[in-house]
Amino acid sequence: MTFQPVLLANVGIRDVQKLDVYKDRGGYRALTKAVQEMTPEQVIEVVKDSGLRGRGGAGFPCGVKWTFLPKNHPGPIYFCVNADESEPGTFNNRILMEEDPHQVLEGIIISCYATRAWKAYIYIRYEFGRAFRTMQKAIDEAYANGLLGHNIFGHGFNLDVYLHRGAGAYICGEETGLIESLEGKRAWPRIKPPFPAVEGAFRKPTVVNNIETVACVTHIIDRGAAWFKSMGVPPDPKNPRDLGSYGPKLYCISGHVNKPGCVELPLGVTVRELVDHHGGGVWKGRKAKACIPGGLSMGFLTEKEFDTPLDFNGPVKAGCLGLGTAAVIVFDESTSIVDVLYNTCRFFAHESCGQCTPCREGTGWMLKIMDRFRRGKGRLEDLDILMEVANSIGIIPGTTICGLADGAAWPMKNAITKFRSEFEEYIKRGQKLEAPALVGAH
Ligand SMILES: Cc1cc2nc3c(=O)[nH]c(=O)nc-3n(C[C@H](O)[C@H](O)[C@H](O)COP(=O)(O)O)c2cc1C
Ligand code: SF4
Repeated sequence: MTFQPVLLANVGIRDVQKLDVYKDRGGYRALTKAVQEMTPEQVIEVVKDSGLRGRGGAGFPCGVKWTFLPKNHPGPIYFCVNADESEPGTFNNRILMEEDPHQVLEGIIISCYATRAWKAYIYIRYEFGRAFRTMQKAIDEAYANGLLGHNIFGHGFNLDVYLHRGAGAYICGEETGLIESLEGKRAWPRIKPPFPAVEGAFRKPTVVNNIETVACVTHIIDRGAAWFKSMGVPPDPKNPRDLGSYGPKLYCISGHVNKPGCVELPLGVTVRELVDHHGGGVWKGRKAKACIPGGLSMGFLTEKEFDTPLDFNGPVKAGCLGLGTAAVIVFDESTSIVDVLYNTCRFFAHESCGQCTPCREGTGWMLKIMDRFRRGKGRLEDLDILMEVANSIGIIPGTTICGLADGAAWPMKNAITKFRSEFEEYIKRGQKLEAPALVGAH
């Protein structure tokens, strides 16, 4: 049976960005049900039962996160919607906002009802001009029709939604960096605890969720937890910590494929199916060499690992950091992994906020060594030095405030482990390539 899209079901429907067209297609049915027939606690229970895990990268269970808010808090409680979408290769949040803004807004309103949030901030990547304008129109229409503002549906539920344009850095997408930026400061991630649920925006309890996560909430309330759980992958019985990977997922496919784009499928589709079937195969009749399975910070899969299922477990089993944003970037057989890694290092060294010495210095040193390789001055022992640096930076070794450093380390660890012979040959050749000037080193 072919999969019927859920999150992308309205894409291509004429004028669905307008409230009346969205409503004609069943829009705001879930919100009406939530506010008129359910208590906030019941909404949280359904979301918990659905097994929905965050789509922003870490895969934290959404309903469980909501229960971390303090009980009977006098308010205000804030809801931050993460639409910064800065992970390289990822563009599904933009599509959701541009194509179906009311679906996103409905999910936000339901989520705020459940968490008793008074204000929601949509932190939107600065460059997303069209998404910004489309979302603002949807918000204005929702206010004009009593779906936002004071006493929504006459149930004493009040909510204001603001669009906040991002400050233009990768780190603004990290949840506490986002909160700092929202408060008008530099997006320097905060040391946790306290976690945002206890002390977040403006030092008040705050939930941060990704746009795709809240879009799923709309459908879970509309069709129920069991329906959501009918898609995806149940927990691995051999892994007691696995919570399962349920529901639909937006997969981005880019790089050396014939048909780059965003497709919706149940969690657990393999990389091979995505590339060969949905991405139209590798371009120019070539073979694939590798891919990034879930945004740049997740690391690499070799072509032999393309049967890895893209659920919350699969990429980890293959040595990657996680599923991440499920954005797959494909490299064909002619691509130099050394060049890919050099660009990766440029990105992370440039984006490190500089607060933690291991991240600031580590990303800078990794870039310097990669630059040396490209200038033909690499040494074989550099590979071990790079591995040592990569193993020493990040939340996982416990040396940094946020996960950017883990995201910088994983591509390095994966590339050297999985493509070591290519690095060794490259170094031995002492190949002279013209490298761009060093950037990003602090
Ligand atoms: C460096 C860095 C960048 C991040 N960028 C984003 C982003 O652009 N969008 C996003 O939703 N989450 C991003 N995250 C993850 C957020 O910190 C957070 O986990 C997420 O917004 C929570 O939402 P979810 O539970 O719905 O996934 C980033 C994390 C790190 C460490
Ligand atoms: S890990 Fe890197 S990006 Fe994150 S807070 Fe530390 S220095 Fe900043």
